This record gives sequence, structure tokens and C-alpha cells, in this order.
Amino acid sequence: VQAALADGPLKGKRVIVTSGPTHEPIDPVRYIANRSSGAQGTALARALSALGAEVVFVTGPADVPPPDGVQVERVQTADQMLAAVQGALPADAAIFAAAVADWRVDNAAESKIKKDGSGKLPVLNFTENPDVLATVAQSKARPKLVVGFAAETDDVVAHATAKRARKGCDWIVANDVSPETGIMGGSENAVTVISASGAETWPRMSKDQVAAKLAAKIAEALT
Ligand code: CTP
Ligand code: CA
Repeated sequence: VQAALADGPLKGKRVIVTSGPTHEPIDPVRYIANRSSGAQGTALARALSALGAEVVFVTGPADVPPPDGVQVERVQTADQMLAAVQGALPADAAIFAAAVADWRVDNAAESKIKKDGSGKLPVLNFTENPDVLATVAQSKARPKLVVGFAAETDDVVAHATAKRARKGCDWIVANDVSPETGIMGGSENAVTVISASGAETWPRMSKDQVAAKLAAKIAEALT
């Protein structure tokens, strides 16, 4: 456990971090979600706090507990995540590490959907969720530094570079989550940070080390 540095480089800076998956209900007992442990977002919030930042940690239902010493806002859905982030503005930086579900079920049932024995299948209609990052990056209350994450397969840098432009963020932290990398669900990460000045590939290291390096880069950008 790192103690917050009272005089760290991020003292007086307010940083929002989103983390974990969102859960979009199908009915009271079922949901759709992305795979996400919340480990990288949690490590990043802890590292930012350790550098003295005031951290608002907006988290979906993650596997790992939130760090100590941060303001925790718990949400379930993408709509709730957007509202929590907007409620936490203004901020100096916003880091979007959450794996937000891209769609929600627009005909979610109020009561549990039952199998009636006939083999009849439920039909789910989907609607697109708001893009929390793009909404904030393109808003009047845009923080000075907006950072997105992109878990990709195949041409990682090309996908992430296009995503950075489309969403209007300053940096995209991209990683390759192809099954053969073993990154998904593991304790290590291998990232490429894409900014206006190009792509910077970091060696594979623990998620805590990625968090520390990213927090230091954020501190440099804000000071
Ligand atoms: N993001 C978000 N809200 C959404 C979807 C994504 O805030 N509804 C953020 C994520 O937290 C991440 C970044 O946007 O920082 C990229 O997410 P990603 O899922 O890779 O991007 P998408 O635009 O949803 O593209 P894809 O079709 O590849 O899923
Ligand atoms: Ca997505």
C-alpha cells in the first residue's frame, strides 16, 4: 500500500478515473457485460492518489476492491457511469479505463424472464450506450487531459490511432488482447501510448508498473 504523497506532483489536481465493466440488465437476474477485472483502472487510481491527486474513482462491478484514499462512485450501467462522471466535473484530467458495454437491452424486463417449457426463446432488442469518453472529450467541461484505453486485436496501433481521432482524446493507451498474449485477465500488461506526437511502446510489465509509469506521465502533462 502506497501512502499518498502530501506534496506529490499531482497535489491540488483533481482526476476522474473510470474502471471495471458495466452491467446492462436483461431482467432482474441477468445482464450483458464486457470482460474486465478492473485491475488496471484500480492500479492507476491508486498510483495517481499516491502522487497526491484527488481521485474520483467511478467504477462498475469489478473483481478487485477500489483503492483506499479515493472518492468511490459505484455504478452498474453505462448511463449511470456517464452521469457519475459528469457529476464529478470539472477536473484537471479524466482517464477512461472502464470496459463499458457498447449496447444495452432496450426491452429489459421488470420481472425475471421464465422458461415456459415450450422452448420459445426471448428476443432482446439492443440500443447503443452513450460513449462516456467521447461525450466528456467533446464537452465544454472537457478536462485539460483526456485519456482513453483501447483493448484491441489485430492491427492494434492502427485501430487505436483511429479511435483517438474519432473520440477526441489526448492519449489512447492501447493493448493487444489477442488470446495468445495472455493479457486478458492476467496481472501484466503491454501497452502502446498513442498521442499527437506518435506511438510509444512500453515493454511488458505488471499492471502496477504500467499504472506508475502512466501516473508519472500524467503528472508531467499537468505540471
Ligand atoms: N468508452 C466509453 N464509453 C463507451 C465505450 C467506450 O467511455 N460507451 C471508452 C472506454 O473506457 C475506453 C475507450 O472509450 O477508454 C475505448 O473503448 P473501446 O471499447 O475500445 O471503444 P469503442 O468506441 O467502443 O470501439 P469498439 O467497437 O472497438 O468497442
Ligand atoms: Ca467498446
